[in-house]
Amino acid sequence: MTILVTGGAGFIGSHVLTLFVEKYPEYHVYNLDALTYAGNLENLKAIESKPNYTFIKGDITDETFINELFQKHKFDRVIHLAAESHVDRSIKDPLAFIKTNILGTTILLNAFKDTWKNNFKDKLFYHVSTDEVYGTLGQTGLFTETTPYDPNSPYSASKASSDHIVRSYGETYNMPYVITNCSNNYGQNQFPEKLIPLFINNIINREPLPVYGNGDYTRDWLYVKDHAIAIDLVFHKGKNKETYNIGGFNEWKNIDLVKVLCQQMDTKLCRPSGDSEKLITFVTDRPGHDLRYAIDASKIKNELGWEPSVTFEEGLTITIDWYLNNDVWLKNVTSGAYQSYYNKQYNKNT
Ligand code: NAD
Ligand code: DAU
Repeated sequence: MTILVTGGAGFIGSHVLTLFVEKYPEYHVYNLDALTYAGNLENLKAIESKPNYTFIKGDITDETFINELFQKHKFDRVIHLAAESHVDRSIKDPLAFIKTNILGTTILLNAFKDTWKNNFKDKLFYHVSTDEVYGTLGQTGLFTETTPYDPNSPYSASKASSDHIVRSYGETYNMPYVITNCSNNYGQNQFPEKLIPLFINNIINREPLPVYGNGDYTRDWLYVKDHAIAIDLVFHKGKNKETYNIGGFNEWKNIDLVKVLCQQMDTKLCRPSGDSEKLITFVTDRPGHDLRYAIDASKIKNELGWEPSVTFEEGLTITIDWYLNNDVWLKNVTSGAYQSYYNKQYNKNT
């Protein structure tokens, strides 16, 4: 089987690729990634010289290039993760999100359709999506697979749109697909623009920790390797044309999570207890900020037997240790363009 993974140099993609390349030597896994600011081949060191792995640098929005690539390799299956993924960036530059997440996904779907025409036996287009397509919850309730889509940010609207287009290819062209909608991931290799790695980096450097609004927003956190395991399961055992929600059974208010992170960092960095908490700074809220995400993951649990394998405490410890032990990785990704992004995003606030 030849598998095309898109966005494999990013955070989640790098864990999915590593799992597939190491676990399935009989598959050939291609990694297509444009290496945007979020893509980093350092994330793939463990597999870069494996014979069943090939990296291809390229952009999913380049239609000619994508069509030729599919004609050349005739990928049996696609796991599509490439995306613009950060909500704050989507507020500043929505077009980039529309282009990659909607147009790019459609170009991939077309190339896949044209490669296999109507002969889709054993083929699969696996679209990796987010719980943000459902919009926001109030203080109670959970997102299920039948919750109506109600996205609030350009990022989530672009992902919602791509989900709909994938589904439409299933209905219109009978193209086999699965979609998974996952909650917030954390773990190794995450770019320090997202809450947990940003705050770890700032604590290391004794920089302010910019908590949006009053910090009273809730997310459902999942360790990234558990997401990769879920993707492996759905890829092999998921039902055609089905959607599966993936979550951590692990809701945290931002401010509570940040305080736990501060405590753990104080211990790891041998700083006095309470030291990092002093860095917490409440800043102007994110526009359109979704109050609460929480996933009902009972479908994937009951049908495919998936559950998170690590507790949040274990996952967070692994994550903090990884960032502390990979200071060169962290320095590399936070040099250059990162600084100008950071200044634009936070300087007015902090
Ligand atoms: P990421 O930003 O870390 O990585 C995205 C990758 O896609 C990068 O390697 C980047 O270079 C590549 N890419 C971007 N534009 C591209 C283009 N035009 N052509 C080719 N490659 C391109 O993202 P992530 O956090 O790993 O998320 C991966 C996927 O999972 C996304 O589709 C995202 O919507 C989804 N998701 C993320 C989370 C999360 O918490 N991070 C949760 C649920 C779903
Ligand atoms: O729910 C899944 C989604 O989770 C994914 O689809 C997205 O790709 C991923 O980025 C993530 O989106 P969030 O917006 O929830 O993640 P982020 O890490 O940006 O923010 C988490 C929470 O922390 C959110 O309530 C905003 C808040 N926050 C974030 C940053 C970066 C702050 O208070 N301060 C910050 O500086």
